[in-house]
Amino acid sequence: MIDLNALRAKPTLSGGRVRLVPLTEEHTDAFYASTLDEEVRRLTGTHHMPSYLQVQEWCATRAESPDRVDLAITEQPGGRFVGELSLQDFDPDNESAGYRIALSAIEFTGQGLGREATRLILEYAFGELGLHRVWLHVHAFNMRAIAVYRACGFSVEGRMRDSLFWDGRRHDSLLMAILEHDFAKASR
Ligand SMILES: CC(C)(COP(=O)(O)OP(=O)(O)OC[C@H]1O[C@@H](n2cnc3c(N)ncnc32)[C@H](O)[C@@H]1OP(=O)(O)O)[C@@H](O)C(=O)NCCC(=O)NCCS
Repeated sequence: MIDLNALRAKPTLSGGRVRLVPLTEEHTDAFYASTLDEEVRRLTGTHHMPSYLQVQEWCATRAESPDRVDLAITEQPGGRFVGELSLQDFDPDNESAGYRIALSAIEFTGQGLGREATRLILEYAFGELGLHRVWLHVHAFNMRAIAVYRACGFSVEGRMRDSLFWDGRRHDSLLMAILEHDFAKASR
């Protein structure tokens, strides 16, 4: 069983090219800009368009959230905001949680930043929080995301047919998950 109190302390996790830092109000402008990016919206299947004030409120309250971890992905060196990620839907009895990540613009993709950020948060999830399982949903057309998740040790566990209706077409999504020992194996 994992201790949900551990989620109150939001970590800073440093890698070679990215640093994950607690998401705060100072990230509002960059986060809001990412919600307007059409390609990021398509890849994440985000229908809802939040207002600036909603994004500000979201960023400002993340540090106090008792049951999830929301971190900004910042570039190293320089500290520019390049995206954000979350561990959410914690199930303490079964030691599992959901994961999501979005770089904030397509110009930041394809440079290894998402892979490094995913490895850092998985290291934290398994090593510090004591999770056994981390799962996610990804649209079946999002081949770049699927490649990164596979490289980090995730496997496909199932397919949700027609789960996304986007621009008049329906798309499947995949359930992927990684267990503690998969991560250890993928990190060797
Ligand atoms: C998904 C995401 C986090 C991946 O991070 P990233 O930094 O762009 O990815 P990386 O540069 O670390 O790795 C990309 C990998 O995908 C591979 N790839 C890219 N396009 C591909 C395609 N069409 N088919 C197969 N593999 C592909 C690349 O070859 C690379 O693998 P390699 O390093 O072994 O060659 C990031 O692209 C992102 O946030 N995109 C926008 C939002 C999004 O899609 N979020 C995920 C929702 S589930």
